[in-house]
Amino acid sequence: MKKIAVLSGAGISAESGISTFRDSGGLWEQYRVEDVATYDGWVRNRALVQEFYNQRRKQLANVKPNAGHYELVRLEQAYEVQIITQNVDDLHERAGSKNVLHLHGELKKARSTVNPEYIVTIDGWELNEQMTDPQGAPLRPHIVWFGEAVPLIETAAQISAAADFYIVVGTSLVVYPAAGLLHYVPPYVPKYVVDPQEVHAPVSNVKYIKEPASTGLKKVVDELLVLGRKSADAGALPRLNH
Ligand code: APR
Repeated sequence: MKKIAVLSGAGISAESGISTFRDSGGLWEQYRVEDVATYDGWVRNRALVQEFYNQRRKQLANVKPNAGHYELVRLEQAYEVQIITQNVDDLHERAGSKNVLHLHGELKKARSTVNPEYIVTIDGWELNEQMTDPQGAPLRPHIVWFGEAVPLIETAAQISAAADFYIVVGTSLVVYPAAGLLHYVPPYVPKYVVDPQEVHAPVSNVKYIKEPASTGLKKVVDELLVLGRKSADAGALPRLNH
């Protein structure tokens, strides 16, 4: 089966009612990145950081996947699909996507502040000061903050390098190293960028679909499923023996 890799960002969850970061009215207009999404912010004011992510978790309980998430599930009929998401929500999984890699962590998980291997799923929406690992160290949100290493970036780069088709959806492509993943995709691989705004992917072989995820991904998926069916038919042709 051919492989499709998808790099998704906040925009794919916008139609579910989750704010993006950099659109007007986005999260980074309401909060300072340094306060809620850096290790220094956490050291300065843990309660504020916990409150920020508790709010995000509460919101997550009240939203559902949208048509864009479901379109990507449809692709699995004919392709091996691997999603690399910058999103910390779980809407790809809830829609039914099988392979989802969370580059920037997961809202519903917490991890030990001293042992990065100790990761637990949060029951409900609240993570608070009293919650600790078995050694008594406080738990922090399992989120990759600005300035921190991105542990899954190499896996994501390998997935990008092995893709037969590449889809970028709902990301402004301004945050690295995620945005740099495009450079691992071979130049001849067809790439689709779905975003209602002008987004620039500085690589070759790109088709821009300037639409929201729901309608834009429908077009891309329809096109790819036709291609997938054609190549399956070609594969089914009897071989001539010479
Ligand atoms: N469908 C598709 N794309 C949309 C939609 C929609 N309905 N609505 C908005 N968008 C697009 C915007 O035009 C923009 O290009 O989604 C993109 C969102 O960009 P950002 O807010 O910058 O989000 P993202 O690229 O995911 O941010 C990357 O930055 O703050 C950090 O860690 C955070 O993972 C995040 C990272």
